[in-house]
Amino acid sequence: MSCYEIKGGRPLFGALAIHGAKNSVLPILAACLLAPGQSVLHNCPDLSDVSATLDILRLLGCQAEREGDTVTIDTSTLDRWNVPERLMREMRSSVIFLGALLARLGTAELSYPGGCELGSRPIDLHLSALRSLGAEILEDQGALCCRSCRQGLRGREICLSIPSVGATENIMLAACGCPGVTTIVGAAQEPEILDLQGFLQAIGVRVSGAGTASISIEGGLPLHPAEYRVMGDRIAAATYLCGAAAATGEVEVSGIAPDTLAAVLSCLEEAGCEIHTGPDRIALTSGGPLHSIRPVRTAPYPGFPTDAQAILMAALAGGEGSTLFVENIFDSRYRHVDELRRMGADIQLAGRAAMVSGVRRLHGAAVRSTDLRGGAALVIAALGAEGTTRVSELRHIRRGYQALDKNLRLLGAEIRELP
Ligand code: UD1
Repeated sequence: MSCYEIKGGRPLFGALAIHGAKNSVLPILAACLLAPGQSVLHNCPDLSDVSATLDILRLLGCQAEREGDTVTIDTSTLDRWNVPERLMREMRSSVIFLGALLARLGTAELSYPGGCELGSRPIDLHLSALRSLGAEILEDQGALCCRSCRQGLRGREICLSIPSVGATENIMLAACGCPGVTTIVGAAQEPEILDLQGFLQAIGVRVSGAGTASISIEGGLPLHPAEYRVMGDRIAAATYLCGAAAATGEVEVSGIAPDTLAAVLSCLEEAGCEIHTGPDRIALTSGGPLHSIRPVRTAPYPGFPTDAQAILMAALAGGEGSTLFVENIFDSRYRHVDELRRMGADIQLAGRAAMVSGVRRLHGAAVRSTDLRGGAALVIAALGAEGTTRVSELRHIRRGYQALDKNLRLLGAEIRELP
């Protein structure tokens, strides 16, 4: 079983260009289905989640080719509407194909995505919204069969009780195939939704409001393929910055809008790091042990991102003083805590809260990635720890990081992959 071997305590220095955003590219790849023909996506990261999405597109009859970070999708040969269970299991976010297939073909069949490492992850908001747009959805022994009703799909107002990222994206995609105007009230405001809106506009959709709580989509218009550049991955950028914060040093990440990481940057500054930003870059300098900071409460954007909770926690666990974390988005997002404890971390859990008491220096251990960001957190902890750490279950990390080990080596870390 392959693992990363990391010898901690080396400061990080240098600059990195951040790859395209996983959470943008997945819905954008599904959105390619809306416009028959050949769309071209630049800055498309080479991640296992992206490969799984390309496999789904191929199984649906599309052509998908990668050359470097450019992916070309030809959806003119789309001739299937069912996503096999195997691929649904591999990647929960493939539920996004429901909205896209419904809009293009008026029908979609896929299996229920079920729970995942972060706990139960219902899709009730996705399904009830699609039903209000005119979809008939049968749920039968884990299968979801979705068809437009006899009268056809129709745009309308949809109010979301939780600003779900996936539900907002699924509704945006389905609404493209619904004549009339769909308004999403209580929409998620994450930057990746704005990126999806950018691609939809490029293929001819009249959509506005992304980045606010109210998004409006005019559906039923003829659409055309387009060329588009995916935004940079703000969570990958946060990961390298937290790595430098933990290991000390001076690191600059580029290809990323600093505003999209404001909540994380203010925590790192409060912990004692120096931060400088330019229009598309962030530089961080860290000189010594990180200090404790005010409570970190995860929240929908522009609040502190749940995807950065584990990585900031890993950096602070090797600092000094106590910091309270409160996880408000997912019910099971502390699975990395037991692994951090193996490295000497002092973290007390009580429901949604985690009290991290910095121990000044973690130590190396054999640890296991429990999920994507939990795995990245272990790498960060290892960079600042004394001694050697082995992080296994790299498949989780590969879902969201392109060449994490190579990039860290460029910054001066001692990390290698063992077979
Ligand atoms: C997306 C991101 C993920 C990030 C999360 C929150 C992608 C591919 N993934 O996941 O990295 O951690 O946003 O920023 O973009 N919920 C319901 N019913 C639903 C849908 C969601 O109760 O139908 C709940 C979830 O259980 C969770 C909360 O809403 O508690 C937020 O989930 P959501 O925003 O939908 O996350 P994802 O889109 O799955």
